[in-house]
Amino acid sequence: MEFSIKNGNAAATLADSLVVGVYEDKILSEAAQVLDATSQGLITKVMAAGDMDGKLETTLMLHHVPGLASGRLLLVGLGKAEEFAEKQYARAARAAMKALEKSGAQEACTFLAELPLRDLSVRRKVAYLTEASLDAAYKFAAIKRKDEKASPKPGLAKLTIHVASAADVPLAEAGLLEGQALAAGVSLAKDLGNLPPNVCTPTYLAEQALALGKAHQFKVEVLEREALQKLGMGSFLGVAQGSAEPPKFIIMQHLKGKKEQKPLVLVGKGITFDTGGISLKPGSEMDEMKYDMCGAASVLGTFKAIAAMNLPLNVIGVIPTCENMPDGRATRPGDVLTSMSGLTIEVLNTDAEGRLILCDALTYVERFEPSAVIDVATLTGACVIALGHHASGLFSNNDALAAELLQAGEVALDRAWHMPLWDEYQTLLDSNFADMANIGGRAAGSISAACFLARFTKKYHWAHLDVAGTAWKSGKEKGGTGRPVPLLTEFLVQRANQA
Ligand code: BES
Ligand code: MN
Ligand code: ZN
Repeated sequence: MEFSIKNGNAAATLADSLVVGVYEDKILSEAAQVLDATSQGLITKVMAAGDMDGKLETTLMLHHVPGLASGRLLLVGLGKAEEFAEKQYARAARAAMKALEKSGAQEACTFLAELPLRDLSVRRKVAYLTEASLDAAYKFAAIKRKDEKASPKPGLAKLTIHVASAADVPLAEAGLLEGQALAAGVSLAKDLGNLPPNVCTPTYLAEQALALGKAHQFKVEVLEREALQKLGMGSFLGVAQGSAEPPKFIIMQHLKGKKEQKPLVLVGKGITFDTGGISLKPGSEMDEMKYDMCGAASVLGTFKAIAAMNLPLNVIGVIPTCENMPDGRATRPGDVLTSMSGLTIEVLNTDAEGRLILCDALTYVERFEPSAVIDVATLTGACVIALGHHASGLFSNNDALAAELLQAGEVALDRAWHMPLWDEYQTLLDSNFADMANIGGRAAGSISAACFLARFTKKYHWAHLDVAGTAWKSGKEKGGTGRPVPLLTEFLVQRANQA
């Protein structure tokens, strides 16, 4: 999509579609007032008739409005004028861009970035709009279908973002770059999630990481099975041993901060397909377990975003990736594995494999002396039961870090919810035959999974995001969401601003 930033009169704008906001109680935004005047009060009439009441996230497309050169005029509901703030702005922007994309418009001009908002900079407003438009335009296009029509419906190709004054233009340009960078990261995470599991294998993820490092000049290293054996990653390898696909351990280093600055480390669960292993999952919807690498995808997506922003920060990304398959060589329930930390694990259920690959990665990252470690994983079905599909589960051994991540999620509209990680839950993992079991029973399933990881993260500040309910959508809208790339990117941008 092509973007441009402009400053000028709404009525004089030539674009095939215009986008303006209207509040509840028939209050028009400034641009809407201008267009209302040129169209002999059409917007006022439409609102008086009740076709558009200005409620937040509602939209109404008008065609061939008299007095306007543009074929389409999209009215976007902003909600109550006195309640209009950052969150409302972002939601309205998203709704507008979705409606525009649906309409088939190819070229549009939006006046939403002009809306006055006390606590929201032009830069941020434009970043939101940009990201929302690219998100709405996202189509999974990686796999060509034989029957695909010669000319699929073209989406929005050109978006002009109007700002209130000429002085705002450079700020808006900066916001545009930020929004594009984030969208590129979100789009990568969606693509990797959506790819079929026979394409998106551990080897494929490793290749993607290497390509990303090459494109953006950051260091990427991939460790093979032999090196992992030498490191003593018995837990990770115990999961990988049932698959014909070789496991990979990916390390990415975006070191653009000060030399002495301790790195932030992101760890992503990269199970490219989770059958459950010998503790085989039931058949229905098992295809969705191709999304069990969405934690890894979000780390790759976040790296893409911060690389495109050239973020001045030291960030290391680590991805343990393999398949979880049933096989003659696969780990059995009852097997005891020795993790890299030396702690032994009784595998009572081979379907609780995410924690088994993550624990070795969490031990491995100690060597970086991290300022904090954040792991992202589609870890438990129990998290979906607890929080549904709106919030990711957040667990942490440090309340300040947890607060930072919660706030970043709020700002990025990619929310998480703080869950308890109390010691009292640790006994759920007691085992008679090893240092711990890999499952803790049905009650508090997402917490016992986090408690398992907590045993390997005592040496640093750590947070865990369980994205089982947020990383993809099921049903008719089945597809990756790119979450939590917005949360992670916002968190890192804020850290870079503090550095
Ligand atoms: N990848 C799954 C978690 C999952 C399930 C995410 C459904 C999203 C939707 C994970 O590896 C798993 O199978 N977890 C088990 C743990 C259990 C055996 C303790 C689960 O949640 O059932
Ligand atoms: Mn599993
Ligand atoms: Zn899994």
